This record gives sequence, C-alpha cells and structure tokens, in this order.
Amino acid sequence: MSKVILALDFNDSRTALDFARKIRYEITWVKVGLELFVRAGPEIVAMLKRMDFNVFLDLKLLDIPNTVSGAVSSCVDVGADMLTMHMLGGEKMIRTAINARDRGVRANNKVLLLGVTLLTSMEQKDLPWPDQRNTHEIVYDLAQKAHGWGLDGCVCSGLEAKKIRTMTSDDFYLVTPGIRTQPAEDDQKRVVTPEQAQKSGADFLVIGRPVIQSPDPVKALQGIISRLT
Ligand code: C5P
Repeated sequence: MSKVILALDFNDSRTALDFARKIRYEITWVKVGLELFVRAGPEIVAMLKRMDFNVFLDLKLLDIPNTVSGAVSSCVDVGADMLTMHMLGGEKMIRTAINARDRGVRANNKVLLLGVTLLTSMEQKDLPWPDQRNTHEIVYDLAQKAHGWGLDGCVCSGLEAKKIRTMTSDDFYLVTPGIRTQPAEDDQKRVVTPEQAQKSGADFLVIGRPVIQSPDPVKALQGIISRLT
C-alpha cells in the first residue's frame, strides 16, 4: 500500500508542530520544505523526530558536487530520513551526494536519496524548450538515470510511475506529488487522484494543500487514507 507523506508547507514552526500533533496517529511521514526549514531551522526536524515522525527534508538540492555533498552531510546530521536533489545536477553531483550520505549515516540509520525528475507543476508548455522533447519522455529518461547512478528513488508524477517501475526495479522508491482528490485550479499540472497514484505503483504520495487547506484537515487526511485501503 502507498504511504502518505504530509507536506508541512507552513512558514512557522508553531503552526507546523500544532498541525503535526493533530495528525500524529494517522501517518508516519511528514515533509519539511524550504518555506518551513528556512524559518524554523534544523530544530524542526529534531522536534518532528521526537514526535516519532520520519522526516522527508525536501530541499531539492542543485549545486556543484562539492557544495551538494556538504549540504547532504548537513541534512544527514540534522536527522533527515529522506532527501531530494535535482537530476539536472548530473552524474557527478549525484554520485558525490551518495558518497556523502554513505559517510554520514550511522549504523541502522537509513537516509533515502531521491532524484527530482521534472516538477509535477510542469507541463509541456512550461519546459524551457517545449518543442523539443516530451515531458514524460524526459521524466522516464531522468528516472532511469537516477536508478543507474545509484539513487534510492525518484520524484515523479503518478502519470509516469507505472512505466518507471518497469524501467527500474521493485526496490526503487517512487514518490509522487501532484495528488488531487478533486479538480483544482492551482500550480500542479501532472496530477492524479490518490487511487490512481497507488495503482500506478507509487510508494509514497506527497500531499499538501488538499489536506492542510481543508476546513477539517484530519478528516481530509483520514478520507485520503481510507481511499488507499
Ligand atoms: O500542496 P501540494 O499537494 O501541491 O503539495 C505538494 C508538495 O510536494 C509541495 O510541498 C511541493 O514542494 C512538493 N513537491 C512537488 N513536486 C516535486 C517535488 C516535491 O510538488 N517534484
């Protein structure tokens, strides 16, 4: 069964922690992105870990290999369980990041490194060269490279997950944002429902606004989880 990762897309730690307390018994994974991390700092990761959450630190790293390697070491040190980096950084950046992770993890501690393929907010016309290559083809290509270069998984849309599974392996983690329970006019473009994402073979569904902007977030989250069982 796919697991839900709740995106704590808030700009202060008190709101994020209050929210985390409410959903504490519903799920085991939460995501901290740049909006929250920049304001709350590494302590937010420690506090969520003390609440027994696994923390996906979604900083989407992209820089020269030496800088990304340092950033990965820092992310491992602060206790992240899952990290993201852009595939656009290329093979050297990715392999250096994997080495940094391997040096930093302590025994029995697993930190998953994921490659971001193409953001789920992008459709064909949003590509820098929209006439040249198909969005999904680019995602398949980057996912295959992520697998080949030794990453633990990739971030893709539920529209691409099924094919990526056939191109990679059963233990390659497929993490899918762009989950919508009903049609929404927002920045996400390559969207699927929770059921479709699960059916596509996604291991994790990253969900933010359909839950955190709901008038009753706990009920909204429980509703999504019940659709997955
Ligand atoms: O609010 P929404 O459900 O669109 O949130 C999706 C979350 O997933 C956001 O926190 C966003 O940063 C994240 N994400 C994404 N696309 C990626 C990687 C992460 O939307 N490729």
